[in-house]
Amino acid sequence: MSKLKIGVIGTGGIAIQRHIPALRSLEDKVELVAVQDVNKERAEEVAGRFAIPEVCESPDELFGLVDAVIICTPNKFHENLSVHALNKGVHVLCEKPMAMNAVEASSMLEASEKNGRTLAIAYHYRHMEEGRMAKKVTEAGEVGKPLVARVQAMRRRKVPGWGVFTNKELQGGGSLIDFGCHLLDLSLWLLGNPKPVEVSAQTYNDLSRIPGQVNDWGTFDHETFEVDDHVTSYIRFENGLSLQFECSWAANIKEDHTTVTLSGVDGGLSVFPFELYQTKHGAVWDASPVLKDEEEVEIGVKQLSNFIGSCLGEEELVVDPAEALRVTAIIDAMYESSQSGRAVRLDG
Ligand SMILES: NC(=O)c1ccc[n+]([C@@H]2O[C@H](COP(=O)([O-])OP(=O)(O)OC[C@H]3O[C@@H](n4cnc5c(N)ncnc54)[C@H](O)[C@@H]3O)[C@@H](O)[C@H]2O)c1
Repeated sequence: MSKLKIGVIGTGGIAIQRHIPALRSLEDKVELVAVQDVNKERAEEVAGRFAIPEVCESPDELFGLVDAVIICTPNKFHENLSVHALNKGVHVLCEKPMAMNAVEASSMLEASEKNGRTLAIAYHYRHMEEGRMAKKVTEAGEVGKPLVARVQAMRRRKVPGWGVFTNKELQGGGSLIDFGCHLLDLSLWLLGNPKPVEVSAQTYNDLSRIPGQVNDWGTFDHETFEVDDHVTSYIRFENGLSLQFECSWAANIKEDHTTVTLSGVDGGLSVFPFELYQTKHGAVWDASPVLKDEEEVEIGVKQLSNFIGSCLGEEELVVDPAEALRVTAIIDAMYESSQSGRAVRLDG
């Protein structure tokens, strides 16, 4: 059987750290044939380094050469490039967040459905060992009816000081749309993708606006810092579930910690590290399976294998794009709630 031809648009950090090395270890199934980047020099350097045959002048030229594309540009270009690719019959794996807002994300979903092509979103926490175990355990009913989820995506002093992560126009926001989105996605998946009915949130960027801040991840300009560096939120869902959310790039806390915890009627769990809490035989139990340590590329390989399986019609996507759209709609509501100072009602 002939191999799936793949291209990559945007040859920056995530492309070279995760996707291109992951593609290399799936060479029995795919062929990385082309890259394109607005910075052609960078694309040429990456093509040279990874022995990629073609450096394209435009997305259109690349779409003519491939069956599938991985989109690794800043968030502002996710929608336009994805819709364009899907309309040309090209399958898409788009980096997270799905888009700048839910209107854009909806048009991506529509283009995927209209053209019968795969649209996957790179919410890779679902492919991590801990994420998969949490999903298995919740689906097996070990926590019973879920009641409350809690997201903590907290970094002490790690505003990304490279690329365009603090540029609102290109990214749409800061810690929430960049980092919090992963854990929000994971928690909704574990809860069974419930319909949100009301979102309250507060965003902050006071800390990053102060000159001379210590930052472990490079430097940024405090004067032009316009995105959120810390967000809190409370979300209510249709079936009585609730979610407490907090994310930060730069909080005054003891140390970084990232997890989702779930409390249900019959048990509870914490995802990072994975632990299951239950009451059995008249005693309180904590169970921790021995999970494999994973390299970034291994997670990328699982994500890509699933994408390729979907393109070939052999597998269902782990990240359903309709679920990724819901994540984006909740993020929109969080930003709106903070701006208006009110809770935002949602209809699904
Ligand atoms: N899944 C994850 O955990 C994860 C981690 C990092 C980044 N990301 C996402 O990946 C995307 C890229 O992030 P990055 O860290 O690689 O950024 P980056 O700045 O390192 O790379 C982006 C690349 O895109 C190119 N580019 C910009 N506009 C373009 C356009 N219109 N067409 C073609 N190329 C264009 C730039 O020249 C640059 O080479 C973002 O959406 C980000 O949220 C995801």
